[in-house]
Amino acid sequence: MLQSFLARSMRAAFPMVAVGICFVMTPAWANAPDIARKYCATCHEVTPGVAPRNPSAHAPSFLTISNDPRSGTPDNLAHVISQSHASMPPFSLTATERQSLINYIMAFNTRHAH
Ligand code: HEC
Repeated sequence: MLQSFLARSMRAAFPMVAVGICFVMTPAWANAPDIARKYCATCHEVTPGVAPRNPSAHAPSFLTISNDPRSGTPDNLAHVISQSHASMPPFSLTATERQSLINYIMAFNTRHAH
């Protein structure tokens, strides 16, 4: 009786544990490169060395943004992403997507690396 109860709970718990482990092992910005390429790479150099599709927008690269003392903070990035900028309407991202994008951009920050 007790044994079958335990077996049943184990079976029920296993998928949750498995999902939990995957979640912990996935970096918080795992889907951010796709989001950045889709929404930002038109104007910004997202990946260092890969030119934006529209260089005439004169947008700073993510590397520059991340290392700029004013722009490269999580608060400023959250602000910019949730506002319209460069005549674009605000990006409609979920809270999770927005946070991964912020983590991704902040990962270019080399100011605090040494
Ligand atoms: C239509 C072109 C365009 C697109 C698309 C675009 N940007 Fe920009 N962005 C600009 C330009 C131009 C600037 C510099 C002028 C300004 O700040 O408005 C800029 C500036 C910024 C800044 C610095 C502004 C500050 O005040 O710190 C951040 C951060 C930024 N963009 C993030 C993003 C992110 C993240 C995306 C994608 C979700 C994105 N941008 C998509 C054109 C664009």
